[in-house]
Amino acid sequence: MLKYFLNLLRLDEIPMLHEQKIVLNPIGFVKTVAVGDEVKDKSLISQIVVHDELTDGLSGISSYSHLFVLFYLNQITDDKRRTLRVHPRGRMDLPLIGVFAVRTMLRPNPIGLTVVELVSAEGNVLTVKGLDAFDGTPVLDVKPYDYWDIVENVKVPSWWLKLKEEKQKKL
Ligand SMILES: C[S@@+](CC[C@H](N)C(=O)[O-])C[C@H]1O[C@@H](n2cnc3c(N)ncnc32)[C@H](O)[C@@H]1O
Repeated sequence: MLKYFLNLLRLDEIPMLHEQKIVLNPIGFVKTVAVGDEVKDKSLISQIVVHDELTDGLSGISSYSHLFVLFYLNQITDDKRRTLRVHPRGRMDLPLIGVFAVRTMLRPNPIGLTVVELVSAEGNVLTVKGLDAFDGTPVLDVKPYDYWDIVENVKVPSWWLKLKEEKQKKL
């Protein structure tokens, strides 16, 4: 049966992978009083306000201490989405590398992924710690962070270790 339908589709009617458009509806948005670089503060408390009609989907979430938050970096312009190589943190002393090898917001699909601490879950509002997203940022999804994703002894590039060392010296 599948073969029959595939035969009906002409090859030139099948969109190439890179031409596919995906439409997603945000599940909610970020609420924070922080502006600009203040969102980088790991101790920042923000809210994720989930759309009312999705509140049932949050049932059971308060049993977790941490969540993955996927969000759409909606203030990134189309021009910035064409960037393919960057110096991490915009620092010219660090190597020029591909955007898929760094957590820059400049990327073809400006999606942010952050692990946050879940402070509380009340109704449709998740209060979280450490979310580096501006006020009004659309949230695409939240998922529980569990042992499935914990990895030990990860390998990272030397520029990353250099940044970490610098940060520790400042503390
Ligand atoms: C570099 S992105 C990384 C996000 C996430 N931690 C990750 O690794 O995918 C985080 C930075 O994006 C910027 N940002 C936050 N919300 C944004 C938004 N809605 N649109 C554009 N930029 C945003 C802020 O400067 C923030 O520090």
